[in-house]
Order: sequence, then C-alpha cells, then structure tokens
Amino acid sequence: MKLFVDTGNVREVETLASIGILDGVTTNPSLLAKEGGDFRHILKQICLTVQGPVSAEVVATESASMVREGRDLATIDEHIVVKVPFGKDGVKACRALTRDGIRVNVTLVFSATQALLAAKAGAYFVSPFVGRLDDVATDGMELIEQIVEIYDNYKFSTEVLVASVRHPIHVVQAARLGADICTCPAAVIEAMFKHPLTDIGLARFLKDWEKAQGIKV
Ligand code: E4P
Repeated sequence: MKLFVDTGNVREVETLASIGILDGVTTNPSLLAKEGGDFRHILKQICLTVQGPVSAEVVATESASMVREGRDLATIDEHIVVKVPFGKDGVKACRALTRDGIRVNVTLVFSATQALLAAKAGAYFVSPFVGRLDDVATDGMELIEQIVEIYDNYKFSTEVLVASVRHPIHVVQAARLGADICTCPAAVIEAMFKHPLTDIGLARFLKDWEKAQGIKV
C-alpha cells in the first residue's frame, strides 16, 4: 500500500520524504489556506520534494471552470494530480481532464455509488473519507471494503485512496482491505513509528551492552 501525507506543509513533506517512506502527497483548500503564501509555489516545492503524485484541488464548482482550473493546476508540475469534488460537475470535469491526459483524484466520496461513477469517468484516484463517515456514526472502512470489491469485480484501474484518516488503526484496516493508498496527517505517520516495547527493548540492549563492556554508549 502506498503511503501519502495529507498536508500543505513543505517541511512535513521534506521530513517524511527524507526517511524514504513517502509515495505522494494530498492537499486540499483547507490545508493550503492554513499555510498561507503562494499556493502554486508551495505545490511546486512539494512536487520537487516528493517526486510522486501530489493532489491539488480545484475550487471552481461548475464543470467548465473546473476543467480550466484543473488544466492550469496541471501546468505547475508533472506530478500534479487534479482533485475535483464529487458531483455531476466534478464527474464531467473528471472525464474531460482525463481525456486531456491529466490525472484526476475525485474527492469527497462518501458512497459506493459515487465511487463507481468516478471510476466510470476515468478517475485516476478516488478519495473516500473514512474519518468524516465515522464522525456521523457510519463505518468508513465498510465503504472501503465495498469500493475495493466493486473495482476488483470490474477491473477498474482507479486507485482507492483512503482519506480523512484519523489514527493508525485506519491505516492497518486500509492495508488489510487491499486499498491502494492511505493518505495520513503527519501526526498519524509519526504514531505509526511508535511502540513502547521498541523503546524499552532498545534501552535494555544498550544498558546490557554498556554493562558488559564497562563503557557508556
Ligand atoms: C484528503 O485528500 C482529504 O482532503 C483529507 O484527508 C480530509 O481529511 P479531514 O476529514 O481530516 O479534513
């Protein structure tokens, strides 16, 4: 499963990319607004750093303007994947951009029917939001299971990008279900590294070594 970071922060991308476990980045208007500054410059820096797919979302709401905005976003860097919100306009824009050879991530997906329509429109990624579903007492992971099954049945090439991830359990569940990608806030990736037994084990190894050698490591 590919691991993306869900952020508009260049430093977070640099830190994770330098470890060597980062496959791509997703941004959205809220994340970029939080950073301030020139969003095109930020997106370019992120692309140069990660050298993998970087989702950049349109803010237009009508299909023709979404296509115009998407074409423009795609000129920022070859790694840009244009994100469009699900809806009739979004699906129409997805089809048009895909015909132009631009990769599209259909976002704000909350049902299997929406995911099916996005795949039929040629989406490169589909982004179901698991955390926001959990927030309204609906099992987000059940949706991932349905989408993976449907795409498998019909051999759709659209990749399932699990979004709105809130904790490492979401990552484990996404991987067990065979999702293609999980995009996580940096704090969730940080938490994936941690286990108290690893820390305790390392401290014990070093202490034992120190005792045997009569040296301080
Ligand atoms: C990513 O593509 C989404 O925009 C993001 O995961 C949404 O996450 P949130 O529900 O935590 O805002």
